[in-house]
Amino acid sequence: MPYQQIINDTYHQIKSGKDEGEAASYIPELAKVDPENFGIHLITIDQQEFGIGDRYTQFSIQSIAKVLSLSLAFKLWGSKIWERVGVEPSGTAFNSLVQLELNKGIPRNPFNNGGALVIADMLVGEFKNPEAEFLRFIREINNDNKIDYNLSIAKSEKSVGYRNIAICNFIKSFGNVLNEPERVLDFYFTMCSLEMTCQELAQTFLFLADDHFRNTKGERILNMSKAKRVNALLQTCGFYDESGEFSFTVGLPGKSGVGGGIIAVFPDKYSIAVWSPKLNAKGNSYRGMKFLEAYTTKTESSIF
Ligand code: DON
Repeated sequence: MPYQQIINDTYHQIKSGKDEGEAASYIPELAKVDPENFGIHLITIDQQEFGIGDRYTQFSIQSIAKVLSLSLAFKLWGSKIWERVGVEPSGTAFNSLVQLELNKGIPRNPFNNGGALVIADMLVGEFKNPEAEFLRFIREINNDNKIDYNLSIAKSEKSVGYRNIAICNFIKSFGNVLNEPERVLDFYFTMCSLEMTCQELAQTFLFLADDHFRNTKGERILNMSKAKRVNALLQTCGFYDESGEFSFTVGLPGKSGVGGGIIAVFPDKYSIAVWSPKLNAKGNSYRGMKFLEAYTTKTESSIF
């Protein structure tokens, strides 16, 4: 497959088209990022790399980090985690509270903010220093000691984090947050502030495309049954109330973040990261979605 040529052609096609939406500004630090950034990086399971554009610039991966915190919690506690968080698409925005009341504080899935806060609570309860342990897990996956948090983004989000504070306290009122909400929120804001380039993101997520779910050093990150479930959740819940649309138009498991990043994996073939900060109305990268739709169509990449 001439990956590089198709990436180049698709990149220019999307770049010369419309760029709708707005970069996230509800986290003040994110508003400082140049919305014109646009990068793509693809890594095949035999570790060939292809890409174009701003693929070596670090950006805030935000909700994409929720896949990694879920992977760590799932690795540690297995199916016990499903007693406290569901596996159903929500059909609502990432920061919605409506279903929490009806579901008595059990979030619909681990990728909306409520679910990610419950997973964060599990990690806070387990580790003396969850920030350090989480970073260690990620550096182990991608074999890169340079990956780090951006604490000014975490601080910036905390300064306006009223909605997440409400979600965390609301879940606590049902008894499904065990630790102090402030500690859980601090960890949550910090994990969301992780920064990666498209290259680092594609590298990190390659284990979910590998047939034995190994990182590039050949170490198994999740067993088959767990990795299958993480990929299933990416497919059904990775884009909030646009998960159906992503499945329909792209046809790969994936996850978005409000920093404008999207990661998608094609099992047994490749992982691909796209970054473009302007977000559509559902909070997913406008150009990222368009690029992946066109790219997967041209390359006939789909799990279906
Ligand atoms: O909690 C928040 O609002 C952000 N830290 C993460 C949200 C996010 O990335 C949603 N993704 N599309």
